[in-house]
Amino acid sequence: MTRTVKMRLKLLMGFLNALRMEPTTTANDPMIVDKNTIESTPMTILDASSYQLHDLDSIELPPTLIEIDLTANRLNKLDSRISNLSNLKKLSFRQNLFNDAGVEPISHWTGISGLEELVFRDNQLKIIPDVSIFKNLLVFDVSFNEISSMSGLSKASTTLKELYVSKNEVAKIEEIEHFHELQILELGSNKLRVMENMQNLTKLQELWLGRNRIKSINLCGLKCIKKLSLQSNRLTSMKGLEECTSLVELYLSHNGITKMEGLSTLVNLKVLDVSSNKLAAIEDIEKLTCLEDLWFNDNQLASLDGISEAVSGFREKLTTIYLEHNPCAKSSDYLTTLKQIFPNIEQIDSEVFA
Ligand SMILES: *[C@@H]1O[C@H](CO)[C@@H](O)[C@H](O)[C@H]1NC(C)=O
Ligand SMILES: *[C@@H]1O[C@H](CO)[C@@H](O)[C@H](O)[C@H]1NC(C)=O
Repeated sequence: MTRTVKMRLKLLMGFLNALRMEPTTTANDPMIVDKNTIESTPMTILDASSYQLHDLDSIELPPTLIEIDLTANRLNKLDSRISNLSNLKKLSFRQNLFNDAGVEPISHWTGISGLEELVFRDNQLKIIPDVSIFKNLLVFDVSFNEISSMSGLSKASTTLKELYVSKNEVAKIEEIEHFHELQILELGSNKLRVMENMQNLTKLQELWLGRNRIKSINLCGLKCIKKLSLQSNRLTSMKGLEECTSLVELYLSHNGITKMEGLSTLVNLKVLDVSSNKLAAIEDIEKLTCLEDLWFNDNQLASLDGISEAVSGFREKLTTIYLEHNPCAKSSDYLTTLKQIFPNIEQIDSEVFA
């Protein structure tokens, strides 16, 4: 990760990370397709994104198609010709105008039952579509809709590896017990209050739960998670992470956490974000020898006295620290002291060193 990227990342993290705004699907080599004159043969990828199309009447859909990307159009009905594309693996209707009735026919489209990736992100769905015919589904994205319940997911294939339901109205984690292969679960920006029913997700590597109403951490015994976000929730304690020793990135900013604890076992941690909490001391991380990024801004650290012991394990490893908006950041020797403690520091707050 370059320094500029890292800085931008940090600046955007508080907002983006909770929602994970990055596109989940991008065609590897998207060709620009003129909707009136499609001429490449044999065509396997159709990228017809951003045409503001109301229908696909002007577009040819050759049977060789493997991927179709219809992002950013004005579609609200499924074109039944798609149901005959037996080679189709990826289908994206991201950012269109589909409602529940509009997507319903897909539940009978056995001709494309080999589909591996289905994206309805950013439409007007109120319920999870029935995707039970897709027995090989790996990626399913219904984020940025108006879905109020995870009900219906129990019908989705056990093969699923990535599930995106962020930015909806979901109040309860449920119907995911059969996703034994799931690696990524995104539920940010919903109405969740409790971390539950995740016991069977033993292969889960990324769990994104930012912008919810969660009051306490419960990983349901999962130990393989590498990236966890609980930013912008209602946590007052960070207890409950002790056994999740695979963690590499942990995001806990914008909560009401009062003490750093239960972190000493997380020896693989590289990024720790505890900014915008109520922390008065840097504690329990002296044994973390991999830590590269420590984000501690907007807390209540009064002084830098004794800090070098608290950070002894990663003193030479750390490249980025955010401490601004703590009382200690006002002292005149703030930068000098930090540079002395961390010989390889590349960035302090928004200041990047050559
Ligand atoms: C799908 O293929 C079948 C068999 O070739 C054909 O009868 C049918 O009209 C096709 N449907 C569409 C919507 O193209
Ligand atoms: C969840 O795991 C338990 C214990 O391994 C198993 O008994 C149960 O059937 C699993 N649930 C589903 C829906 O796969």
